[in-house]
Amino acid sequence: MKLPWNIILRFVIAVAVLVAITAPLFPSLTGRANITQPIAFNHKKHAGELGFPCTTCHQSVEARTFAGLPQTETCLTCHAAALTKNPEEEKIRQFAAKKEIIPWKRIYRMPPDVFFSHRRHVVLGKVECAACHGKMAEQLVPPARPLVNQTMNWCITCHQERRASVDCNACHK
Ligand code: HEC
Ligand code: HEC
Ligand code: HEC
Ligand code: HEC
Ligand code: HEC
Repeated sequence: MKLPWNIILRFVIAVAVLVAITAPLFPSLTGRANITQPIAFNHKKHAGELGFPCTTCHQSVEARTFAGLPQTETCLTCHAAALTKNPEEEKIRQFAAKKEIIPWKRIYRMPPDVFFSHRRHVVLGKVECAACHGKMAEQLVPPARPLVNQTMNWCITCHQERRASVDCNACHK
């Protein structure tokens, strides 16, 4: 019997294309979860072109362990009235009208037993944000995944270079 190779080939290609297209719908299988934020915030516009310091929005980064993500009020200090015709900007006032905080999603999160302090690194260690978070000031849209892969080896490599502690108990509670 003569096999219809051209039909089999087309079938194989069709299945391959289908798998490639639907793969992003199954992040748990491909191991790449995509994070989507409630507003398409533009870091480049605010931190780059307009030159606002990171602390305008990440207000506890120099004082606390955590950096903090901006509350609706922080955005409203400048966006109480429309500055642009961008519908993403209008969303700020829609959250405010509903008295809701903007539900930003975290990209970076350490396991619960790991201790990390922003103040220690930013103020005492004088480490730049970009050394740990990459080129955030150049992002036009919220990153869907971490720009820097913050593994234990990554922390330890810098600690060795900077002569900071590599004692297990320094980082693990
Ligand atoms: C210190 C003032 C200030 C703060 C705080 C601020 N913005 Fe803006 N934002 C601006 C200015 C100025 C523009 C640019 C207007 C223009 O392009 O003419 C802008 C533009 C925007 C735009 C349109 C961007 C584009 O690419 O067209 C969006 C969306 C936006 N901001 C969202 C936010 C959100 C969300 C927050 C809170 C996390 C925030 N902004 C906080 C001043 C601010
Ligand atoms: C005007 C407000 C604003 C300014 C200024 C700003 N950010 Fe942000 N930042 C945000 C918002 C809103 C988010 C959440 C949406 C996103 O990821 O774009 C965010 C998210 C982040 C995150 C991801 C945190 C996580 O785990 O979810 C990092 C890292 C970050 N910003 C770093 C910076 C750095 C570094 C600067 C200064 C160069 C900066 N940001 C300036 C508003 C701001
Ligand atoms: C030495 C590395 C390092 C430096 C420097 C650093 N970060 Fe982070 N950042 C981290 C780590 C690690 C996390 C996750 C912390 C956790 O889950 O406890 C994080 C989380 C964040 C978050 C989200 C969670 C939160 O803490 O609210 C924001 C926003 C953020 N960083 C902004 C900044 C900004 C802005 C700067 C500079 C002023 C900065 N970071 C400097 C390593 C760093
Ligand atoms: C780019 C360099 C760099 C990276 C990356 C880095 N650190 Fe650090 N870390 C430092 C420096 C520098 C100090 C010392 C700060 C000072 O002078 O107090 C420090 C200090 C610390 C301390 C205090 C140590 C003590 O003596 O008690 C802890 C805890 C810590 N880091 C945890 C972490 C963790 C957890 C990570 C990874 C998620 C990390 N660091 C990533 C540079 C870094
Ligand atoms: C400079 C900070 C730092 C030091 C020092 C450090 N760790 Fe970690 N460790 C981390 C971070 C951050 C993670 C989570 C990220 C990852 O899994 O890569 C982690 C993860 C782990 C995990 C996986 C379980 C978990 O907590 O998620 C084990 C086990 C561990 N560390 C053991 C150790 C031991 C044992 C030492 C001492 C020889 C040590 N660590 C020293 C930062 C550190």
